[in-house]
Amino acid sequence: ATTPRDAAANQLLQFSKEHEGKIESTTTTFGTGVPEKDASMTVGYHGPILLQDWVLIDELSHFSRERIPERVVHAKGAGAFGYFIVTNDITQYTAASVFSEVNKKTSIAVRFSQVAGEMGYPDTYRDVRGFAIKFYAEDGIWDLVGNNLPVFFVKDCALFPSFIHAVKRNPKTHLRPDYDMFWDFITLREETTHTTMMMFSDRGIPANYRQMHGYGVNTFVLVNAKKQVHYCKFHYITNQGIDYLTSDDAQKIGGVDPDYHIRDLYNAIETKNFPSWNFYIQIMTPEQAGKYRFDPFDDSKVWLHADFPLIPVGKLVLNKNPKNYFAEVEQIAFDPAHLIPGIEPSFDRMIQGRLFNYGDTHRYRLGANSGQLAINSPPDYTATPETGPSAHPSVSITGPIERTDSGNDDNFTQSRLLYRNVLKPEERGRLIQNIVSWLKPTNSVLQQRAIDLFSKVDESLGQKIRETLNESLTQHVVL
Ligand code: HEM
Repeated sequence: ATTPRDAAANQLLQFSKEHEGKIESTTTTFGTGVPEKDASMTVGYHGPILLQDWVLIDELSHFSRERIPERVVHAKGAGAFGYFIVTNDITQYTAASVFSEVNKKTSIAVRFSQVAGEMGYPDTYRDVRGFAIKFYAEDGIWDLVGNNLPVFFVKDCALFPSFIHAVKRNPKTHLRPDYDMFWDFITLREETTHTTMMMFSDRGIPANYRQMHGYGVNTFVLVNAKKQVHYCKFHYITNQGIDYLTSDDAQKIGGVDPDYHIRDLYNAIETKNFPSWNFYIQIMTPEQAGKYRFDPFDDSKVWLHADFPLIPVGKLVLNKNPKNYFAEVEQIAFDPAHLIPGIEPSFDRMIQGRLFNYGDTHRYRLGANSGQLAINSPPDYTATPETGPSAHPSVSITGPIERTDSGNDDNFTQSRLLYRNVLKPEERGRLIQNIVSWLKPTNSVLQQRAIDLFSKVDESLGQKIRETLNESLTQHVVL
């Protein structure tokens, strides 16, 4: 039997074809030629190796250090490069250089990722997917570090580490997933319901990275040339058509090809099937924000499209694969605090925490000079931008200093809309099956808490989950 060979499988053959007839020598990391790569320098055939064998020392010491700590979240991912082009004028909202005129092109780097699993985890596991974009703008780097779902599980950054710990390995058993840890957190924090339902819907396992949407999730502030401010959400909508894998297919594929999504992206770009996304914003004035029926700074909620329609802005195109995954993808450093004049963070409690955390992890993961690595540098490192932080609007804030739990602010209206109005009947059926497949392995106390939680979204949802769970439990005994 023959194995089908795709562009990814043929990478080495392709490389040798491109280099045919060229004589290239192996070098040390400092560029001197290595005449003999296969032997260390010894005193006689059985003698000891010499300290003066700097070629060997270069090789071994580099090998010891060739891994860096993997990302604490989003460890497994795939990267590609391309451009962003402006199709519609939005200068009435922002003075940001990337949006300054129609047809303007800005180079971008994109990294897609899984959230909870480690570096070797199967791409097809049910999880949120990361969709981070680095814009190499003329006045600095702008990182839009988004996901494939428009909302997030928690809305106060103080809860982010606890949430992540609940989806990571159990510290005693070293096993994941630990369904008890997961459902314990979810059922104690009701604001997780909306995102949890999206994760258990078809969107929880995209068919590949090309056929999913992306969202900035958090609320940002756009500032125009007159220093007027508007609140903003970013959306990027796939031109490949959104698609998903069923849980069964995903499990089978993950067992055969854990790198299924990385392979798909590489092959698509290598065969010039360049993926693209249309880029939109939603805009809310400060006056509208004060009156909106949902907290506009709460990232567990969307701004309903009926209230705030999508405004077209441009297009993202990915047309280049990395040449060196380590230098261009493993070492790429996205940071929501990398902003350019005209785009600001809002008071959303998650973005506020994110402003600190990414830079902090880069100092640990990549070192203090991560910004000078080629992949993270602005296009011309020495250029002095004409515009500067002077674009900041001036804002006055007063209020008592306190810690206020924001978790109980209407957690069910939007989850209910999703269940009743957005999902089609067959999608609701798969949602229930997917929830039950994760509820089955948890204990009966948490099963009951989860049924109570989903009953608050819709009585019949809770009821159907209970019935489906009971049917499946007759086949297995759970403690
Ligand atoms: C990666 C923290 C919320 C999207 C990371 C990393 C940290 C982190 C420490 C690793 C960065 C690295 O090592 O380079 C946080 C904190 C959050 C938060 C503290 C909340 C307070 C979110 C949200 C989104 C998001 C709401 C979606 C909009 C991502 C993505 C990556 C990432 C896409 C991977 C970036 C890459 O590809 O390198 N996050 N995160 N995170 N986060 Fe978050």
